[in-house]
Amino acid sequence: MRTQVAIVGAGPAGLVLAHLLHLRGIDSVVLERQTRAHVERRIRAGVLEHGTVELLRDTGLADRLDRERMVHHGLELLFDRAGHRVDLTGLAGREITIYGQHELVKDLIAARLATGRPLLFAAPATGFSGLDTASPVVHFVHEGRERELRADVVAGCDGFHGVSRQGLPGHTVSTVSHDYPYAWLGVLADAPPSSEELIYAYHERGFALHSMRTPTITRLYLQVPPDAQLAGWPDERIWAELRTRLARDDPAWQLAGGPILEKGITGLRSVVTEPMRFGRLFLAGDAAHIVPATGAKGLNLAVADVSVLAAALGQWYASGAERLLDTYSGTCLRRVWRVQHFSWWMTSMLHRDPAGDPFTAALQRSQLQYLTSSTAAATSFAENYVGLPLEGGTDHDHA
Ligand code: FAD
Ligand code: PHB
Repeated sequence: MRTQVAIVGAGPAGLVLAHLLHLRGIDSVVLERQTRAHVERRIRAGVLEHGTVELLRDTGLADRLDRERMVHHGLELLFDRAGHRVDLTGLAGREITIYGQHELVKDLIAARLATGRPLLFAAPATGFSGLDTASPVVHFVHEGRERELRADVVAGCDGFHGVSRQGLPGHTVSTVSHDYPYAWLGVLADAPPSSEELIYAYHERGFALHSMRTPTITRLYLQVPPDAQLAGWPDERIWAELRTRLARDDPAWQLAGGPILEKGITGLRSVVTEPMRFGRLFLAGDAAHIVPATGAKGLNLAVADVSVLAAALGQWYASGAERLLDTYSGTCLRRVWRVQHFSWWMTSMLHRDPAGDPFTAALQRSQLQYLTSSTAAATSFAENYVGLPLEGGTDHDHA
């Protein structure tokens, strides 16, 4: 098999890249390890930055999103049993969108299939050869057979547990990481949201987050120990803990309950691999970096990477110029590190230190008080939360 760009992974990064290349007339093959049903059911992110939505809209990917999304102009920080609204749109001029990642992935898969260009499910990449040549090869398995995909360029969009990062020779890259002493227990509940906006709660018993997917489905998270097991968290315990951590003095507020449809535990981590390139292999999205979910940035960062990569490949195929390919990693990493800092900062402010250090707790409370009383502090927070503008402006819509 031969193509121009071999894309490993059909998550948001791989699928958006495939579409941006298609609009530029560039051929690609997408290889996905899982089945279609699996990736379309995987519950993950829910918050899309303004710039992500604009890119999707400009490239014809937002028809259903525009019909079904929930637009939020603010969020709430809850501490000491009192909520404080941050007016995101008023402070930063942009709103955020709530739309489940799995719904977006469904839209992206449908758009890809409509182009007639190849997308292979149950086709795991197993390794690479010739990455430092002009004709790299992806080795993969499909329908029980070992196969080869030859390309001009490989895009490693296979997430944190993929093979692409491991394809980079150790001496050419460095990986920096930071682990946090807590994890998130996430649940999807058949219950209407109890608030119109997201609630990020700081509480002595640990962080909690009230989010949503639709007017009838709530998404909730609890800080748990990093070694927590689902078996230790029956539904009643989850609801009791959520009620405690989200409680407030306002007697009118109540957390709506309902059947839990799905639950899972995710560790919080910060990881960056630099540079995001080796020879003809370009990493994008979670394959190159992970941020703790507190800032709601992972999916958005994946889309930002591939908009830079698509523009670079577009320039290269159109003119042979390598300038944007050469600056790809540096351009992405500037945004990645801004987002890393924001996500680490927000995580550190909102999570309970398991060691119970009173100094840390007093600093967190002071930071929350400052953030909710200073327009300058709130503006900086809002600007980062709604997302900084995408590099290259609207270049992505130039087919
Ligand atoms: P992925 O979505 O991981 O896609 C990689 C794909 O590659 C997968 O389909 C995988 O099956 C496939 N793959 C792996 N190995 C191979 C192989 N060898 N061969 C072929 N295919 C392979 N981000 C936000 O922006 N906002 C949020 O609100 C948010 N909340 C989150 C909540 C949770 C609980 C979690 C876990 C994550 C959250 N994130 C959030 C992060 C976001 O989900 C990820 O950053 C995003 O999925 C990254 O997209 P990606 O395409 O880079 O990687
Ligand atoms: C989500 O809705 O899944 C979500 C929202 C905000 C976050 C993380 C996850 O910070």
